[in-house]
Amino acid sequence: MCGEQIERDPNTWTEVERACFERRSVRKYRAEQVPEQLIKRILETGRFAPSAGNCQPWKFLVIRDPEIIAAIERDVRWACKVLKYFVYWRKGDTFRPLAWLMAQLFTRLMPHEMHPIPYSAVGLIADGKLKVLHGAPTAILILKDRRGAANPDLDCGICGQNMVLTAYSLGLSTCWVGFVSLLMKPPLSFIWKRRLGISFPYTLVEAICVGYPVAEPNGIVERETHAVTWFEPGRRFTTY
Ligand SMILES: Cc1cc2nc3c(=O)[nH]c(=O)nc-3n(C[C@H](O)[C@H](O)[C@H](O)COP(=O)(O)O)c2cc1C
Repeated sequence: MCGEQIERDPNTWTEVERACFERRSVRKYRAEQVPEQLIKRILETGRFAPSAGNCQPWKFLVIRDPEIIAAIERDVRWACKVLKYFVYWRKGDTFRPLAWLMAQLFTRLMPHEMHPIPYSAVGLIADGKLKVLHGAPTAILILKDRRGAANPDLDCGICGQNMVLTAYSLGLSTCWVGFVSLLMKPPLSFIWKRRLGISFPYTLVEAICVGYPVAEPNGIVERETHAVTWFEPGRRFTTY
């Protein structure tokens, strides 16, 4: 039993397991709008997500107006251009000391926002090579209630994943979009809080874009295997 691989047999999967394994983030959508009724069903499963103390620290905005979607694209791209200046502090052979200093400072003040992994995407968005909402006709914006018990970000994540899996089960594709949270940073926050009607205690944490994919995603993406330690009566073992 020691070091055993956890089994994954598609023939035994439940609908929920299938959705968990087969769902993919889609970054190219058809223009065709998703029926309002399907979006309502998606929202309803988000509403029923568990949360600490059942405090439900979320609120949803459904954006289907192409003008607003275009404005989000434009403004997040602008923010990425600003960020790119600091993140790419070494440009070719040129070392830019001010940008380096700011990058060091921001990395310490905002370790999650300055994580290196999303930063290849910052460059792509800034250069117009990657869309923010990927051309999806609908975006569900998840607002977090800052007063939520314990860890409202976690609750919003659980709620969002309910919606993502429901969308998958309805034959729709989705992509989480964390970059929209740049709209809540000054100076964009002054414009966007007013435009979207966001005020305390709410803040925009994530978006999920929803639509019909241009093509089917190319299969399951493998994940890293992390050791799992089990404690059974009288013994302890590891699986992967
Ligand atoms: C909280 C969160 C934020 C994300 N933000 C973005 C984003 O801004 N843009 C994007 O294209 N993908 C985003 N993603 C999608 C991830 O890149 C994707 O889930 C990951 O690469 C795994 O691929 P898969 O979803 O196809 O399995 C985000 C995912 C999560 C969970």
